[in-house]
Amino acid sequence: MSGRRVIKYRIGSETIRIMIDRRVYMPSAATLCLAKNLHMERGSRVLDLGTGSGFLAIFASKLGAGEVVATDISPRALKAAKINAMLNSVDNVDFRLGSLYEPVRGEAFDLIISNPPMTPSRNPLPRYTWGGPNGREVLDEVIRGAPSHLKSGGRLIIPVISLVGIGRTYRLMIDSGFKVRVLDYLVHPFGKRLIKLLDYLSNLPDADYVYDSCWRPCWRLLVFEGVRS
Ligand SMILES: C[S@@+](CC[C@H](N)C(=O)[O-])C[C@H]1O[C@@H](n2cnc3c(N)ncnc32)[C@H](O)[C@@H]1O
Repeated sequence: MSGRRVIKYRIGSETIRIMIDRRVYMPSAATLCLAKNLHMERGSRVLDLGTGSGFLAIFASKLGAGEVVATDISPRALKAAKINAMLNSVDNVDFRLGSLYEPVRGEAFDLIISNPPMTPSRNPLPRYTWGGPNGREVLDEVIRGAPSHLKSGGRLIIPVISLVGIGRTYRLMIDSGFKVRVLDYLVHPFGKRLIKLLDYLSNLPDADYVYDSCWRPCWRLLVFEGVRS
């Protein structure tokens, strides 16, 4: 741990410290927008699916979660997330390795949070960002699997970028049995990776993006909350 640089993030009255690791997804605009909209009853049982640096799991713990289960398919991410939990003096996060809901088979939660990899690309990208050719490969499975891992009245909170189809995501959540509302939204300029993918993205049927006042292409992001009836 020593010698590694640490970034401090401030959300409301909480400060979260995250060690920089270029091979792990660092908290992004989507992560912070989700975090800003996180609310729960004290003592809630929370699942953070695809925890990356552990940021959202750590934040959920600081907000009063009774227990947090944080999963990831990447052993490296889990190692970093465990260190970050220690850095933030958080000791009620159970880190588990595995894909999607496999590490929590048969378990139910009050709240599921997830910021899945959603970059659409024909060619593989780093796993922490690649969502398959249409960007939806992990996202769709997170939504479809959520109802059977939520207690009655339990909630799923996910950010969705317009490059994967916001309307399509909304419909999938409704079809999966959720009552859905939008908690927040933002508009964010493309980074270098997305600029290179502009031609590909412009031909995807569900993808959309807008231009800002400086003519930069931007994705839109909505934070959806689905309540299980
Ligand atoms: C976009 S990052 C988000 C990380 C973190 N939750 C955040 O918001 O900063 C997506 C994370 O999901 C993980 N992931 C990708 N596919 C997965 C899968 N099938 N099951 C579990 N985790 C997965 C990646 O390793 C990565 O850490």
